[in-house]
Amino acid sequence: MAEYDYDVLIIGAGPGGYVAAIRAAQLGLKTACVESRETLGGTCLNVGCIPSKALLHGSELFDEAKNGHFATWGITAKPTLDLGKMMAEKTKAVGELTGGIEFLFKKNKVTWLKGHAAFEDAHTVKVGNDTVTAKDIVIATGSSVTPLPGVTVDNAGKRIVDSTGALDLEEVPEHLVVIGGGVIGLELGSVWRRLGAKVTVVEFLDQLLPGMDGEVRKEAQKIFKKQGMEMMLGHKVTGATAKGKSVTLTIEPAAGGEAKTIEASHVLVSIGRRPNTEGLALDKAGLSVNNRGQIEIDHEFRTAVPNIWGIGDVVPGPMLAHKAEDEGIAVAENIAGLTGIVNHDVIPNVVYTAPEIAGVGITEEQAKEQGLAVKIGKFPMMANSRAKANRDTDGFVKVIADAQTDRVVGVWMINSLAGTMIAQAAQAMEFGATSEDIAYTCHAHPTHAEAFKEAAMAVTGKPIHM
Ligand code: FAD
Ligand code: NAI
Repeated sequence: MAEYDYDVLIIGAGPGGYVAAIRAAQLGLKTACVESRETLGGTCLNVGCIPSKALLHGSELFDEAKNGHFATWGITAKPTLDLGKMMAEKTKAVGELTGGIEFLFKKNKVTWLKGHAAFEDAHTVKVGNDTVTAKDIVIATGSSVTPLPGVTVDNAGKRIVDSTGALDLEEVPEHLVVIGGGVIGLELGSVWRRLGAKVTVVEFLDQLLPGMDGEVRKEAQKIFKKQGMEMMLGHKVTGATAKGKSVTLTIEPAAGGEAKTIEASHVLVSIGRRPNTEGLALDKAGLSVNNRGQIEIDHEFRTAVPNIWGIGDVVPGPMLAHKAEDEGIAVAENIAGLTGIVNHDVIPNVVYTAPEIAGVGITEEQAKEQGLAVKIGKFPMMANSRAKANRDTDGFVKVIADAQTDRVVGVWMINSLAGTMIAQAAQAMEFGATSEDIAYTCHAHPTHAEAFKEAAMAVTGKPIHM
């Protein structure tokens, strides 16, 4: 009889866990994946990336027809909204994708153990009433919404909601107050604004989108304001009470000062996410968490206990699905005795608003903090022929290159296709490209991507169309 039930047991079937499971099975390891949700795919497929992007797409179509570009092009449309149908289409997309993972598990012979996992010891996990053993165990339990003291989320009540509730409202809010001007606040705030809600974003800092390049943050703020989002920057919410169809919020200046109250019909709490480790009984496996609640790992994704590994949102680093996926592949390869690597310096980051906002590598501010001398090239979409032809000229592309070596260290952009264009920047950086390499790469005309080439040309002061 084998010493263990499985070679590898993965806890959590999000983009980190399900990808790790499939790769481990592909590499010939006997693999099981524990998931407590009814469907596979984790936060991303069930209540994150996929449903939010479905609603962003649907709401953008509505907004284009109602307020935007249809009229610019001489097309008269009087769209009406069937919110139920929009939600049903989102649910269909989610169902197809989560079902797809189930299919891939079967195809690759990954066993799905349904239930909540808790450690018994470093090789043993309890799943419901069953006990399972494995030689190696990967923790890929992801993250959940960070609660805000004084503001109790009640997704069932549909007044004060988190991202999961905001993906499932049954009516368009009259006035949605979004707490937190980060990625979720701006994406889901955009969805509901486009569908007709008045949206107020209350953000603790004096700017939106922490972590992104300063110029991109400034431009984003300008554009969101122009689109009609109200901003209360430098403010924090200290309390919210729902009564009937309205919510009263108490808001204070972040720097201190007099509190005021505002009324809303709905509130979205989106102040960040925290790692899921509760109920895992990490101590029984000899593990603990750091002061941010994360499980520490080394560069091979190994925890302090040699046969236990960690990936995705539960370990340090950006909480992004593609980061979790790449770590999933790498950890499986490391367990199989291969060399799995993720270049954490080149993880793209995209906000799927309109226009999209994207970046990879370091910001101009980070270069300064690191004492790295850089040269910057910027190119406005206003001077890009395709954007001009499409009447879609908001934003710019910014290339940051090492002043000495010309190697590109960061690319930031805000424009309608930034989420797609950033892949080219990531690939160039992965290959160690200089701004000159990008400037001398032939880009098809007319495309938005030419703005990236021109921004690279601008690093040495030689763009053509500006
Ligand atoms: P998760 O996807 O959180 O999966 C972990 C799984 O583990 C869960 O299904 C959970 O049920 C299960 N689990 C936890 N504990 C246990 C246990 N003890 N036993 C059994 N099962 C357990 N990222 C992007 O890159 N792009 C986006 O567009 C994007 N959009 C987002 C939109 C929203 C609204 C949200 C909330 C997040 C979004 N994210 C996006 C972030 C992305 O969803 C996460 O970074 C990603 O899902 C992390 O993957 P993971 O595998 O680490 O964890
Ligand atoms: P976030 O970290 O992006 O933004 C939270 C914002 O809330 C910050 O700007 C913070 O300053 C602010 N804040 C904190 N406390 C506050 C308070 N009391 N009052 C007012 N503002 C306050 O977190 P968010 O938007 O919840 O998203 C969580 C994570 O999910 C993201 O960091 C990202 O990793 C992931 N995600 C990624 C997406 C993408 O890749 N497109 C989309 C959605 C989520």
